[in-house]
Amino acid sequence: ILFKFFLKALTFLYTKIYSHFEFSNLKCVSFDESFCSFEQCFLKSVNRSYKYGSLKVKLYKVPVNNARVTLALNQRLNGYKPFLYNITFDACKFMKNRNSNQVILFLYNLFGPYSNLNHTCPYNNDVYVEKWPTFYMNRQLTTVLPFPQGDYGLFTTWYSYGVLRASVNVYFTLK
Ligand SMILES: *[C@@H]1O[C@H](CO)[C@@H](O)[C@H](O)[C@H]1NC(C)=O
Ligand SMILES: *[C@@H]1O[C@H](CO)[C@@H](O)[C@H](O)[C@H]1NC(C)=O
Ligand SMILES: *[C@@H]1O[C@H](CO)[C@@H](O)[C@H](O)[C@H]1NC(C)=O
Repeated sequence: ILFKFFLKALTFLYTKIYSHFEFSNLKCVSFDESFCSFEQCFLKSVNRSYKYGSLKVKLYKVPVNNARVTLALNQRLNGYKPFLYNITFDACKFMKNRNSNQVILFLYNLFGPYSNLNHTCPYNNDVYVEKWPTFYMNRQLTTVLPFPQGDYGLFTTWYSYGVLRASVNVYFTLK
């Protein structure tokens, strides 16, 4: 995975690099309202330079000691097409050893500092990502990897004890 990641990164060096990140949409869906529900899921523009996304999910069957996550970063070209990755991993294992996978760590760090997910399992409380700002995304994406301009979707699907529970999709544009 890491090799493919760097190969892609190299390819990007020769394509048009973006300089501006903008959230375009945030969509949260619970597939099991007895397990979880979204209390918040929105984007907000405070002013021209300060825009953020927030979401909050209430967990009804705590403690949650098992979580499997699928992350897919897709680019929109006539429908969303696979872009960099589409990976499934055990979130509890990952949180125990975050350096175990650099690709997941990169994606986690995109929102980690704004979230209370920042600890190992179990999760006993409602989970949130709060006031997740565009300026932070701009910095993370530009310093880590040069991405080509375009419309993207980060699709995340959440399973617990093998059952599909929720999805959170983040849509954004790089100009
Ligand atoms: C935008 O809003 C933030 C938070 O309220 C504030 O700190 C910042 O100064 C504002 N920026 C402008 C350009 O008004
Ligand atoms: C990720 O891969 C899985 C398995 O191939 C597929 O079912 C899923 O639709 C893909 N997700 C996205 C967002 O492309
Ligand atoms: C997670 O929390 C710990 C303890 O508060 C802190 O030291 C660490 O930097 C945090 N990590 C992230 C990625 O926010």
